[in-house]
Formats: sequence, structure tokens, C-alpha cells
Amino acid sequence: MSTNADQPLDLASLGPGLSVGGLGDEGSHAASAWNSLDDIARAVASCTRCSLYSGAKNPVPGHGNPNADFVCVGEAPGANEDEQGLPFVGQAGQLLTKILAAINLTREDVFICNVLKHRPPGNRNPNPDEVLACSPYLVRQIELLRPKVILALGTFAAQTLLQTREPIGKLRGRLHRYHGVPVIVTYHPAALLRNPSWKRPTWEDVQLARKLFDRVVEP
Ligand code: URA
Ligand code: URA
Repeated sequence: MSTNADQPLDLASLGPGLSVGGLGDEGSHAASAWNSLDDIARAVASCTRCSLYSGAKNPVPGHGNPNADFVCVGEAPGANEDEQGLPFVGQAGQLLTKILAAINLTREDVFICNVLKHRPPGNRNPNPDEVLACSPYLVRQIELLRPKVILALGTFAAQTLLQTREPIGKLRGRLHRYHGVPVIVTYHPAALLRNPSWKRPTWEDVQLARKLFDRVVEP
């Protein structure tokens, strides 16, 4: 268990189910018409809610098992993802595949998506207005999937999902929630490639995520 786990993981306190709120005005109206992940992918493909669509080659709504109980959320598509229309397919994506394998999950087991569904030009950080515009898609994805655990990858995904400015070193190693769903935070695989000393804490974080995933949910 990590040294900064000021909120110990208490599996017994986690009820099943999901409370979703806070979609807001326009978002919730549109989102109620999306009844599947495919509906969301179609909506993203024709989305003009922010300007990113105009510079992107492909939408990257997310990919994976539509029945996944384990969801990975990253920041935004990069160049490779924009080319292929798929999340985490570059170098960081290959590392993510290995990280998942370490907890006995394949990419076919999980659903992988990003906070932003179109690539920001030159991989710049997402702007707050872009996050706001794009958030109904992520909220609805989580609502439809109702996963047992969300693994937030990196500072941006973690701070955005959890609405905090706390640094990732403080957020990792303990349990959070996003719209009722348990969230575990860990380092972004791209950051791990630059800083191998984060491999150990990442290993601990994904073991924690695996524990949540394995917990038995009483009916
Ligand atoms: N980094 C991300 O945050 N998401 C991707 O899909 C690829 C790289
Ligand atoms: N900075 C990031 O953007 N992500 C991390 O995971 C760590 C540092």
C-alpha cells in the first residue's frame, strides 16, 4: 500500500451502482438520446461543440469492450490516435497494454477512452472550454458502462475527473469517485516512459485497481 494513502481502501463501503448528475443543460438533453457507446461514437464523429474537430483527422471516441467493468481514461488523442481513430495506439499505448497485462487484463477486456475525443493541435494541453464541451460524452460513456473501476491515467485525466488541482503524487494510491464510480489514479504511461522511477508506484496503483475490479458486488 502506498505511503500517501490517507484514505485507506475500504471495499466494504463501496456500494454497487452509479449516481450520475452534473451533465448540465445542453449536455444532459443530448446525452439522453445516446443509448449505446456506438451512439456516442456517432455523436462525436459529427461534433462541433468545440473547435478541435476542424483540425483533427479522425474522432477518437474510445474503444474496447462495450461490457467492460474496467475503464481507462487518458487525456486526449495524439498524432497516432488521430491517424487511426483509436485511443492509446502509439508508444504510450503499447506501454498501457503491458500495464494492463500485468494485472491480467487485455485490451479486449477493457474500455479505453480520453477526456477529449479530438486531438488538440500539436498535442497542446486541452483548454477548459474544450473539456467542458466534451464532458457529456465521457459522462455518458461511464453511465452506460457502469464500470467497477476507472483508472485515470496521468495528471490531466485525474484532475479533470476529480475536479481538483492536487498533484498526481497526492491523488494516486487512494480511492476517489467519479459520478459514483470508484477511481484509481496513476501516472500517464507517456510520463512513465520518461521517468522509470514511477514504474513501482504505477504497479501499486494498478494492483489497487485490480482489487476493486475483483470485488464481489452483492445484488
Ligand atoms: N495519450 C493519451 O492521453 N491518450 C491517448 O489516446 C494517447 C496518448
Ligand atoms: N505529469 C503528467 O502529465 N502525468 C503524469 O502521470 C505525471 C506527471
